Amino acid sequence: MAVDAPAREDRAKHGKNAQGREIISPERLAHFVLRTSRFEEMVDWYQTVLGARPAFKNDILAFLSYDEEHHRVAILAMPDLKPQPDGVVGVHHNAFAYATLDDLMSTYERLRDLGIKPVFPINHGPTTSLYYADPDGNQIELQVDNYDSIDEATAFFYSEAFAENPIGVEFDPDDLLRRLRAGEPDEELKRRPDIGKRGVADIKLR
Ligand SMILES: [Fe+2]
Repeated sequence: MAVDAPAREDRAKHGKNAQGREIISPERLAHFVLRTSRFEEMVDWYQTVLGARPAFKNDILAFLSYDEEHHRVAILAMPDLKPQPDGVVGVHHNAFAYATLDDLMSTYERLRDLGIKPVFPINHGPTTSLYYADPDGNQIELQVDNYDSIDEATAFFYSEAFAENPIGVEFDPDDLLRRLRAGEPDEELKRRPDIGKRGVADIKLR
């Protein structure tokens, strides 16, 4: 059952706690750090995928940067780590947003031609998303917003369509790329088709 989205000012308000202390949220999400036993391969992969450069790198640590932040991803070398088993708690993925559908799909094309392919392309509704697995199996999501404003995207979270299917609809990235290059408008390409009810059990989660 869909409900009304909270007003933007309510979402943005930090308020005070029960002791009257002001609650201050962080200014931004800064970075994440991965530990690995295949250091060079992981550094190469993140540099290639994100178009990042090392702000610092030695034999055991790399800080990768691609924007105003000094590092968005850091890789830490540790010997003899065990592979990640499925079915354990932890981070499912980290997501990176592109400015336009063309930026996202041009990145898809560039990576595809290097043999790096998404493991899970899906239109969530609020975003068109390509999930990739790094050499250690950690997943990242490359995405573009499907709506022009945060209010429209939030409204979608509270829609009947999202209540019925909060997961999304898979798509063929080569087909989307072809349609994009043929000049179909972004709004049409980003619109999530209606395929009825779906739940977490319908998708492959690692
Ligand atoms: Fe995500």
